[in-house]
Amino acid sequence: MSAPDPSGPAPPETAPAAATPFPGPAAGGPAGSTVPRLIAARRSIRAFADRPVAPEVLDSLVEAACLAPAPHHSRPWRFALVRRPGAKLALARGMGRRWRHDLEGDGVPADRVDALVGASERLLTGAPALVLGCLTADGLDVYPDAARRRAEEGLALLSLGAAFENLMLAAVDAGLGSCWVAAPMFCPDEARDALDLPGDWSPRALALIGHPNTDHPPRERPPVPLGELRLHL
Ligand SMILES: Cc1cc2nc3c(=O)[nH]c(=O)nc-3n(C[C@H](O)[C@H](O)[C@H](O)COP(=O)(O)O)c2cc1C
Repeated sequence: MSAPDPSGPAPPETAPAAATPFPGPAAGGPAGSTVPRLIAARRSIRAFADRPVAPEVLDSLVEAACLAPAPHHSRPWRFALVRRPGAKLALARGMGRRWRHDLEGDGVPADRVDALVGASERLLTGAPALVLGCLTADGLDVYPDAARRRAEEGLALLSLGAAFENLMLAAVDAGLGSCWVAAPMFCPDEARDALDLPGDWSPRALALIGHPNTDHPPRERPPVPLGELRLHL
């Protein structure tokens, strides 16, 4: 069979264009799939009930994370599961020191720096559990030049993002809320040292995990402006 001509006519639509392209929580996907519901139900949850998350539940989230696609059949991820208050505080303080330094360097007024760093510390220590997603070079290809090394690390980082989305969807399925926190991308060494993690673990993503505090529902989600975000070619 010959390859399709890329300049030929567009193939016919396989499904009529829907007014709402992505099924909301009330709609089932094909054959009653629960995946669209899970995807729509995942929201960033920043306030939690005072209720612990069992270590085996966290393990099941990590197992879901590790089913994500990754380059070359690798698993270039490691996960630190942080439940002890002292460890949460150490992580928050370690990353907070670096953020304070960066904000002061940016010329942010001292009272604003205190407010931002304090709020971040409360956010992290207020979550029943934290999952710190780290990259390693495990299974990645090695290149002699910087451009391809950067690209390879980019692949690993993309796959960590896929793993984190799996983890957050599994959290929804387990009745848990989660929120991705960007901080470790800005201070991977400080995050690693705060928890005394192995030297080849490079933290890049953090998730708050816990039972949602229903007094603080997430803001209504704006509709997806599909027309601005995609091109059919
Ligand atoms: C890479 C990444 C970094 C994020 N960092 C933060 C963060 O540092 N603090 C925070 O409160 N939310 C953070 N978020 C959550 C986003 O604010 C949130 O996903 C977005 O507002 C959409 O809301 P939703 O997740 O409820 O759909 C982050 C999300 C991603 C994907």
